[in-house]
Amino acid sequence: MNKPGNSIVLIGFMGAGKSSVGRSLARITGLPRFDTDEMIAIRFGATIHEIFENHGENAFRVAETEALRELRGKQGTIVVAGGGIILSPENRQLVRELGQVVHLSANEETLFRRISRRPTRPLLRTENPRATATALLEVRLPLYREVADVEVDTSLLTHEEVARKILELVES
Ligand code: S3P
Repeated sequence: MNKPGNSIVLIGFMGAGKSSVGRSLARITGLPRFDTDEMIAIRFGATIHEIFENHGENAFRVAETEALRELRGKQGTIVVAGGGIILSPENRQLVRELGQVVHLSANEETLFRRISRRPTRPLLRTENPRATATALLEVRLPLYREVADVEVDTSLLTHEEVARKILELVES
């Protein structure tokens, strides 16, 4: 498949393991890692929660597009994308252009168990986080699948196993 970029881009729902797998991939390959949440937090000098609280979700989404545009100038990187990055058509196109797109998936039970360990995500600060997550997942799953070149189910694998599987898939 001909793409302008040759990076490995991890997409998927919150709790899919993108951040940890991204670190494993960077360690194994020696490639630099860029995490859009980290890029945005640095730019604002604030946590993701503070950005949502003080500037609103829309400002965060605009910053996600800017982060992707910035990454377009880099080759051979590991990109960890925030769970909602696939919401806009422009971002979906930008993500595709960066390189091989890997959708990290997991069954809903597993996603929710992992999400519950770190209750910092602004979108899930609702009365019923479980119902919110289910509704978000329903909307997003087709979008992750639309953008991805490959999908890896992380439910039963360690981060290291997921990383090795990704490398097998993208190198074959
Ligand atoms: C979001 C996911 C988060 C972060 C922000 C919004 C989302 O990233 O970008 O809280 O819309 O799903 P993770 O997927 O790394 O948790």
